[in-house]
Amino acid sequence: MCGIVGYVGPRNAVSVIIGGLKRLEYRGYDSAGIAVVRDGRLMRRRTAGKLRHLEDSLRVDPIEGVFGIGHTRWATHGRPSEENAHPHQDCTGRIVVVHNGIIENYLDLKRLLLERNHRIETQTDTEVIAHLVEEQYQGSLLESVRNTLPKLKGVYALALLHVGEPQRLIAARMGPPMVVGLGDHENFLASDIPALLPYTKDFIFLDDGELAEITPDSARLFDRHGHETTRTPQRIAWDPIQVEKGGYRHFMLKEIHEQPQAARDTLVGRIDLEAGDVNLEELGPAIEGLRTAERVVIVACGTSWHAALVGKFLLERLAKIPTETDYGSEFRYREPLVGPSTLAIAISQSGETADTLAAFREAKARGALPVAVCNVRGSMLTREAAGTLLTHAGPEIGVASTKAFTSQIIAMLLIALHAARLRGTLERNTLRALLAGLTRIPSLMDQTLGLDNRIDALSRTLAHAKDFLFIGRGIHYPIALEGALKLKEISYAHAEGYPAGEMKHGPIALIDESVPVVALCPAGRVFEKMVSNVQEVKARGGRVIALVTAGDSTLASVLDGTDDAIIEIPPSEELLSPLLFVVPQQLLAYHVALRAGRDVDQPRNLAKSVTVE
Ligand code: F6R
Repeated sequence: MCGIVGYVGPRNAVSVIIGGLKRLEYRGYDSAGIAVVRDGRLMRRRTAGKLRHLEDSLRVDPIEGVFGIGHTRWATHGRPSEENAHPHQDCTGRIVVVHNGIIENYLDLKRLLLERNHRIETQTDTEVIAHLVEEQYQGSLLESVRNTLPKLKGVYALALLHVGEPQRLIAARMGPPMVVGLGDHENFLASDIPALLPYTKDFIFLDDGELAEITPDSARLFDRHGHETTRTPQRIAWDPIQVEKGGYRHFMLKEIHEQPQAARDTLVGRIDLEAGDVNLEELGPAIEGLRTAERVVIVACGTSWHAALVGKFLLERLAKIPTETDYGSEFRYREPLVGPSTLAIAISQSGETADTLAAFREAKARGALPVAVCNVRGSMLTREAAGTLLTHAGPEIGVASTKAFTSQIIAMLLIALHAARLRGTLERNTLRALLAGLTRIPSLMDQTLGLDNRIDALSRTLAHAKDFLFIGRGIHYPIALEGALKLKEISYAHAEGYPAGEMKHGPIALIDESVPVVALCPAGRVFEKMVSNVQEVKARGGRVIALVTAGDSTLASVLDGTDDAIIEIPPSEELLSPLLFVVPQQLLAYHVALRAGRDVDQPRNLAKSVTVE
């Protein structure tokens, strides 16, 4: 959700903070602000809209400071205006705060503060924090923040400064992420690693309930009782270049094209073709769950939930383990039947999604063995798991998830194949064939990306469609859901994903020439059934974009409309084909959104990392 950056050190705090916020803008982009201190004077600047408005304002009327904090907002309380943009300050104007999360009891706190004659200037839930700290302040910002935290209900990542305490920032965390970046005679705070990659690779991830105090020469952590704690910093190998667009027009397009590399990186060192096995030692003792669990429950949200559906299919088909999936936001509220014989897998790119974390904790509390599939080493999810399989997709900046999704499917394939091996549910030759197929996937993805120009041309004829249907069967049903989600989130066209067999039970009523139907028709078990479903669409005058395995000629005889299209995808093993069939859908969403003039990397109303429930 919101992005936070803080800096103490010898550089110009404004450029460090604005640079960091730019790399975090994917987290929130409806308003932005910065507060820095120089010679004991606070300078604060805030603007509504994207970060570039703040940059414009700073260009016209620059400010400078030696330490400070900044914020990009994704509004929860109060509309996105300059007044509601962070940082917020107390009545004295000396205590300044930025916040990511929600303070649930802010109305009660606000009422009490008004009764005590505080001047509250915004509609946000955040401003009360500055006034509460003001009431506690007796010369130590750290102590006053620590004494304030028990009064807050809800979730928060906070960064604060006091004008009278030079070169010192305080951070606190309960829920949303906060990292301390460690430099040489300088230190940093941020909501996420990419903000700080140009300056450091060494990070400490705050735990829930922890506070941090940073100065140029120290970074100290404290628990909620004020006891100092220690933590070994984590070295993050991500390259700063990865968080630049690298010649691409958008992060999303860059990340779509990075999928072959992300797949390679997620496979490397994990496949033993000779032994016909997968090496998942990094799961540690959790690996035993793959052998013994009676059932698996997978929890996730959004695109990661689609990867969970693919994972269910694979675990049941290959390892014969009964598997169910649930949305993180639904799992807790249905009294799930989960116990010690359950393996609970959470899938998350960020490892910080509040609903996924809450579901994971619920499964853990009920005795399940918790395993994470995650893209961010050191994130909350990985720290709460008994074992983690990292997807090595590298930083994903575009709000619409692409390379993280295909890496998650690869991770689920590795888990399912290893479980199959441990349980003896798959012939060694079949296992070897699938593993060999997996190693070919990166270059097949490369080939599939060659469709970019074709899809771009096709998008010209689709840019004005208002409704789309995506249909698929079996392991391609979640891929249809993902195609629809990609399109709707960045183009704002209405798109529905459906199991193709269900179409005749309702959605077929929508079909006419104005509703393009994207049909996933890979060679394999359900191909004939898909052809029948395509025929049902054609019989009602619908327009079909069929994704088929290269070499197929059946669809060509069914699709004779001038508006129809057939997109050929390189052949692969049926169970691996989702990794390829999703690619043209991502490209389609990208090009349709671009032609519709949408902001592809930062679509309206969305934020990359959803840290509130
Ligand atoms: C869609 C998208 C979201 C995320 C969801 C979960 O393109 O990116 O649906 O997949 O918010 O996020 P993570 O995977 O970080 O838990």
